[in-house]
Amino acid sequence: MINFGVIGTGQFASYFIAALRRGGYDGNVLLSPRNADVASTLAHNHACVVAASADEVLAGADVVLLSVRPEHAEVALANLHWERRHTVLSAMAGIRLDDLRTLLPGVGGIHLIMPGSYIEIAPGPIPLYPPAPGLMPLLSCAGDVVALPNEAAFNAAMVSLCASTWIYDLAHALAAELERHGLEPDAARALTLGNIAGPASFALGVPETSLLDISAGIATERTFTKTGLDHLKARHFDTPWREAIARLAEMLKLPADDSGATVSICGRCDGM
Ligand SMILES: NC(=O)c1ccc[n+]([C@@H]2O[C@H](COP(=O)([O-])OP(=O)(O)OC[C@H]3O[C@@H](n4cnc5c(N)ncnc54)[C@H](OP(=O)(O)O)[C@@H]3O)[C@@H](O)[C@H]2O)c1
Repeated sequence: MINFGVIGTGQFASYFIAALRRGGYDGNVLLSPRNADVASTLAHNHACVVAASADEVLAGADVVLLSVRPEHAEVALANLHWERRHTVLSAMAGIRLDDLRTLLPGVGGIHLIMPGSYIEIAPGPIPLYPPAPGLMPLLSCAGDVVALPNEAAFNAAMVSLCASTWIYDLAHALAAELERHGLEPDAARALTLGNIAGPASFALGVPETSLLDISAGIATERTFTKTGLDHLKARHFDTPWREAIARLAEMLKLPADDSGATVSICGRCDGM
């Protein structure tokens, strides 16, 4: 059984540990002590142990989650005693693998992960780079691992996670408009969210069928669905979404794609 440790006991660590426990991981979880409130809540709710120091986390853990904010990474990781037996999972948005190798001398393996906060309640994708078969027993408790072939693909997965939050805003707009046309707020929310979750589950269940084919099979001629869809397409509904994705992808470009510039996105954004 993997002994799991955490440096950076905050919001990310809270939902990741909750997801691990929800999915059946019952190994040891050792927490760095900073942020005593979050640490004691996790200890109480999810049977974690609060260590006396970050080095005590390293002494008791084989797999260590790094989840401090990117701007705190350098200080948090300075002078820790890493060993070859340690595997690191970094959730620190925008800190590249090359930079982590510098920050973590002597570590056996370093991997990037970027799951969303909803995994605390519902299973979801766990983007992972580089792939790590040895970590599957742990990570598959938290969700469905999507192993990515390179760091550029991992960065695109991070943009996908950002887009998952935009869905809340889209759902709010849809529900608000449905309220204006007669639904009570609770019903508008339940119908809107259910009608996002349902199609998502359906499409995940038929991976060979393209999303546009599923839509075309439902939005057939002279249906209300097609009338609304034609209006959205005529207004180029996808343009601002594509632009937002392109904007983030540009910010996350790796140095090799970026004329050798080594701009860290940590300087541009405070994480997710
Ligand atoms: N939250 C999300 O939805 C999300 C999603 C994907 C990725 N992430 C990534 O997860 C990381 C953490 O984000 P978060 O939202 O969880 O932030 P957070 O709630 O502020 O948690 C960060 C934790 O790190 C602690 N910390 C700061 N300096 C430390 C040090 N020197 N040694 C040990 N611990 C230290 C903080 O303690 P204090 O409060 O005492 O400063 C805090 O408990 C970020 O890198 C972010 O990119 C977050």
